[in-house]
Amino acid sequence: MSSNEESKFSFFSRKKTPVIDESKLKIPQHIAVIMDGNGRWAKKRMLPRSAGHRAGADNLKTLCKNCGHYGIKYVTVYAFSTENWSRPESEVHTLMELFVEYFDRYDPELEQEGIRVRFTGDLLGLPQNIQDVCKRAEEGSKHRTRMTLIVAFNYGGRREIVQAAQKLAQQVKAGTITEDEITEDMFAKNLYLPDVPDPDLIIRPSGEERTSNFLVWEGAYSELWFSDVLWPDFGMKELTEALVAYTKRDRRFGGLSEEK
Ligand code: IPE
Ligand code: IPE
Ligand code: MG
Repeated sequence: MSSNEESKFSFFSRKKTPVIDESKLKIPQHIAVIMDGNGRWAKKRMLPRSAGHRAGADNLKTLCKNCGHYGIKYVTVYAFSTENWSRPESEVHTLMELFVEYFDRYDPELEQEGIRVRFTGDLLGLPQNIQDVCKRAEEGSKHRTRMTLIVAFNYGGRREIVQAAQKLAQQVKAGTITEDEITEDMFAKNLYLPDVPDPDLIIRPSGEERTSNFLVWEGAYSELWFSDVLWPDFGMKELTEALVAYTKRDRRFGGLSEEK
């Protein structure tokens, strides 16, 4: 780190969590997190994978608190992908059960933190009891305004794009639009959550450096940040490191730097 950067973030502690001048951080409006590494976290402790998933679900509460601390408005978390159905049936079952349990158990805390809950994904492809939980959590949290937690469940970026294309094809067939009226804007309006801004920063813990079909359209210009820490251990220290890295990024969107 150059001395210039050091003074910019003024690290003055050698403790685990860097002490930084938070007023110097650029805070993204929307962060998205790929909650990966639960299985390896459990394996390291000689525990069943389900224990890792439980620890991972608990850590989502911590992430919400930490994002609330920084005033981040939207947090999207990847909880179950369209490809995760290929796991053993017992693991899929565990993940579904945990999902139901999570919203029952933590709703009072989400309420206390002012967190609205929304879902993104192919929800109609989920068992009816899960769809009911989604509806209940969304309806019951509509009035909360401090932060929005978006849970990507049975989510696949390619499926989202295909489903948007299908909706547009139906509109063309019905004669409500013509094919040359389809623009990027109109396409985006047919994605799952058209009113949510694109993620500014996508974080993936666990050491993998890929996006695994997450926010394929919306993440076209997102900054990416990877960490070796496994998801259940991802805490304030890691979030702060991600925000420090984000603050230093120069988002050009194909243009030139502001100072040029
Ligand atoms: C992420 O942890 C949870 C889901 C994908 C649902 P993993 O279960 O993928 O954990 P690893 O990657 O095997 O460690
Ligand atoms: C991505 O993790 C999906 C979620 C965290 C829900 P995976 O563990 O499924 O991704 P791959 O298989 O390593 O790409
Ligand atoms: Mg994984």
